[in-house]
Amino acid sequence: MVDAMAASGVEDERVGGEVRGEEEDDDVPQLSAAAMEALREFLAEQQRPEEQDETGGGEGGVELVPEDWRLSQFWYDERTARALVEEVVRLVSPSGSGSAAGAVACIACPTLYAYLKKTDPGVPAQLLEYDERFGQYGGDFTFYDYNRPEELPPAMKHAYRVVVADPPYLSKECLEKVAKTVSFLAQPEGSFLLLLTGEVQKDRALELLNVRPCGFRPRHSNKLGNEFRLFTNYDPADRLGGWDQSDGASI
Ligand SMILES: C[S@@+](CC[C@H](N)C(=O)[O-])C[C@H]1O[C@@H](n2cnc3c(N)ncnc32)[C@H](O)[C@@H]1O
Repeated sequence: MVDAMAASGVEDERVGGEVRGEEEDDDVPQLSAAAMEALREFLAEQQRPEEQDETGGGEGGVELVPEDWRLSQFWYDERTARALVEEVVRLVSPSGSGSAAGAVACIACPTLYAYLKKTDPGVPAQLLEYDERFGQYGGDFTFYDYNRPEELPPAMKHAYRVVVADPPYLSKECLEKVAKTVSFLAQPEGSFLLLLTGEVQKDRALELLNVRPCGFRPRHSNKLGNEFRLFTNYDPADRLGGWDQSDGASI
């Protein structure tokens, strides 16, 4: 639909602000100014596929490929990415206990992976992603389709101390399949799990993954309408706003 509009010249007429007055055909559907602006931004993004986005812009931001909304791609804003990285680094770093540092699996959350490697390149991390543009991360990239939740290299089985997942869709089917992937990756003795998804998945997330919502509110660079939450399978206490007691979370 987007391409058809662009090809027909409708976009040029509206964005250019040309007023056709009485010649305007009232029956022709028209987009609101906000929708037209979103469309214009989308088309501009599509016209520069080889360029990279800088999430967070300023010093310390990371380079990411442009969002492809057809793949349900909405990147975290810098505040969100940094809060998640801080937590993940804390979880994988042995604090004088003598235990080996853990590895991190990032399921469909490339922004987290990019910020993590920028912040602490030494943390072992694997990005599982459907978008092959992230092949730029070399051996840290594993192609992943949630429809084949366990079609992964055997070496990844039960290998991750921290698993972070941000499923592409809000459906029951998608969360069930991602839950299978989480079980595949997590260590039998228990791993830290962070799930980012819509508030609407709260009951299902508890049932499938034993995760509860935190007070911290994750956000995207390009705002989404749905209520977005961070869920964890452990109580982060004074970090990330703790488990949100107003949601009935209890230990
Ligand atoms: C909601 S986004 C999460 C991105 C995250 N907010 C970030 O900033 O890193 C969902 C991710 O799922 C990926 N995805 C799309 N289709 C997929 C599929 N069939 N299997 C697995 N991942 C998929 C997208 O490429 C996208 O990165």
